[in-house]
Amino acid sequence: MIDAPSLRPQSVSRPSVAVIGAGTIGLSIAWRLAAAGCRVEVFDRGPAGRGATHAAGGMLAACVETEPGEQPLLPLTRASQALWPSFAAELEEASGLSVDLRGEGTMVIATTIDDLAKLRVLHRFQSGLGLPVEWLEGAEVRRREPYLQPGVSGALYCREDHQVDNRKLAAALQRAVLAAGAIVHESVEVSAVAVEKGRAVGLRIGDRLVAADRVVLAAGAWSGRIEGLPPAARPPVRPVKGQMLCLRMDPRFALLSHVVWTPGTYLIPRLDGRLLIGATTEERGFDDRLTAGGQYALLEGAYRALPGIAELPIEESWAGFRPGSRDDAPILGACAVDGLVLATGHHRNGILLTPVTADAVARLVLTGETDPLIRPFAIDRFTAERSTGEHAQGTELPA
Ligand code: GLY
Repeated sequence: MIDAPSLRPQSVSRPSVAVIGAGTIGLSIAWRLAAAGCRVEVFDRGPAGRGATHAAGGMLAACVETEPGEQPLLPLTRASQALWPSFAAELEEASGLSVDLRGEGTMVIATTIDDLAKLRVLHRFQSGLGLPVEWLEGAEVRRREPYLQPGVSGALYCREDHQVDNRKLAAALQRAVLAAGAIVHESVEVSAVAVEKGRAVGLRIGDRLVAADRVVLAAGAWSGRIEGLPPAARPPVRPVKGQMLCLRMDPRFALLSHVVWTPGTYLIPRLDGRLLIGATTEERGFDDRLTAGGQYALLEGAYRALPGIAELPIEESWAGFRPGSRDDAPILGACAVDGLVLATGHHRNGILLTPVTADAVARLVLTGETDPLIRPFAIDRFTAERSTGEHAQGTELPA
């Protein structure tokens, strides 16, 4: 358990909240609620910030990751992207820690004729959606990133797709959560949400009841495993495995400054000299073993784009679990159990969607209002009963 250094007095008019999951989503919600005067306790099955938050790449890629069929997610991803600069500044102020938000933007490069043709189609599609993407000819790409392989024939440049160091983000959030007066319980397995007469009254750790006025379920890929919920409130989330690795660049000689995507691989240069390479997408349940094929594919893709990596030492390899829902969109908001708020299923966008999720969930807990931005992502979209685009009656939280 991380003890709060100084617990702030909490407002008696505010609900007490138990948050399941101390990843970036759970911690940011806890931060907002504790800062608003709620008594907040966060519970995680492992160390705080060590799930998908630790494994992620930290790309804030609302534009580059948008492919045909993903338009419904755009209002949410773009809203969160716009929140990031102020969110990061506020968090750095509250925690005294940097999160290394970098603003060079993202390039998707083409190295073959086939890639070039596909990229032009993607450019037309994303431009048609009004996204801030622009086309760069090969010479301009190489001017901006001289160590990319000389055959780069063009790139899509997304100037607003920035990156943050997700591990520093987790550390800053933990510090801010504690400073706001919340308590974080680590390596504590929540067995169930405690539900009485259709209402969440807290959570269970073994036989022990931890009472709370509201419960927030933000347990990432593990969210569907929490017991005690009726089927309509149990988020249909599965683990989507991603392998990554990290190389160490010479601190005096960064090979890259933009985030760079090539088919099947992305490269993320950190301010501290690490160069992250990601990521596989695998349906393997909770099997977190690294595979030769997965690591080879990442290195091969990265080497084709940036041959200079051949000399760099490998610092770390890891695998994590994206929380994937049935439609790969998040599951947010109130549900069939009164007092229970879902904040899970963020799939490839957990870091990007952190600010908007934190604000919307805090608003829901504090006021009972569902932000229109998250309304399309309610769990009731998966239930047969749903007949209109509106949220079902009777599932709002009381203010
Ligand atoms: N958002 C990058 C990934 O999920 O691999």
